Amino acid sequence: MSKSRLEGKVALITGAASGIGEETAKLFAINGAIVVIADIQDELGQQVVKSIGTNRASYFHCDVKDEKQVEDTINFTLQKYGSLDILFSNAGIIGPLTSILDLDLAQLDTTFATNVRGVAATLKHAGRAMVSRKIRGSIICTASVSACLGGVGPNAYTASKHAVVGLVRAASSELGGYGIRVNCISPFGVATPLPCNAYNLDPSELEANSCALAHLKGIVLKAKHIAEAALFFASDESAFINGHNLVVDGGFTVSSQTPPT
Ligand SMILES: NC(=O)c1ccc[n+]([C@@H]2O[C@H](COP(=O)([O-])OP(=O)(O)OC[C@H]3O[C@@H](n4cnc5c(N)ncnc54)[C@H](O)[C@@H]3O)[C@@H](O)[C@H]2O)c1
Repeated sequence: MSKSRLEGKVALITGAASGIGEETAKLFAINGAIVVIADIQDELGQQVVKSIGTNRASYFHCDVKDEKQVEDTINFTLQKYGSLDILFSNAGIIGPLTSILDLDLAQLDTTFATNVRGVAATLKHAGRAMVSRKIRGSIICTASVSACLGGVGPNAYTASKHAVVGLVRAASSELGGYGIRVNCISPFGVATPLPCNAYNLDPSELEANSCALAHLKGIVLKAKHIAEAALFFASDESAFINGHNLVVDGGFTVSSQTPPT
């Protein structure tokens, strides 16, 4: 397959200093896109830019909890590269791991501030930029298998990821009128710092857990599999797909048990 599925496109990725966002930034760049890495981990973000090449990528500090920073990031992208064709709204946190009986509501607010308010701010400002410039863009958000099932992730995280799918569905109907597609990806457990640090697991332990639970065997879920799903949504190959939640979980969420052998 051609390696230039995003030739001439400008992509903004939040949470791109690490994990799934980092992997996606690299894959988008390989496929011809110019990439803006937006994150709060400045040093790591600059390293991702260096690994891609300063001619194809830039870093911009953006805390998605702060609407002004989101707006500034989009303005930076437009001023530096003249367009915004793809938004991957991917930044997220896991939030409190406590039982619902002990849930600290301030921590729930913080989780929503990043995972929901942050995604809403990026949809709003990227949507405005695309609508006003008549760009038939692609917006992709990162939800989770915790947007499909309860009990897989912590309470506040689960609620926040359900809300991401809600935002995607709502925005897709409105922005579709301008030719802008809005979709989301729901990954199963990928060995990135987010779950490994939260659950104090080595990457190999986390991968072993995901392998044991996924119905699809003989393959280990990696960040690159999520990046490939994002590439599909970013490219013209998904031209008529809008409002979709693409679950990348080896079938984990569609069946509660393995078939009898
Ligand atoms: N890894 C998994 O198993 C998994 C599964 C399902 C969904 N997800 C989702 O994937 C997305 C990416 O997570 P990851 O697994 O790559 O983890 P990660 O920790 O490697 O990356 C998350 C990135 O988001 C950034 N970030 C956090 N808060 C931010 C903020 N307020 N503003 C800007 N950037 C911020 C972090 O600095 C980090 O670079 C998240 O939305 C997460 O919920 C991950």
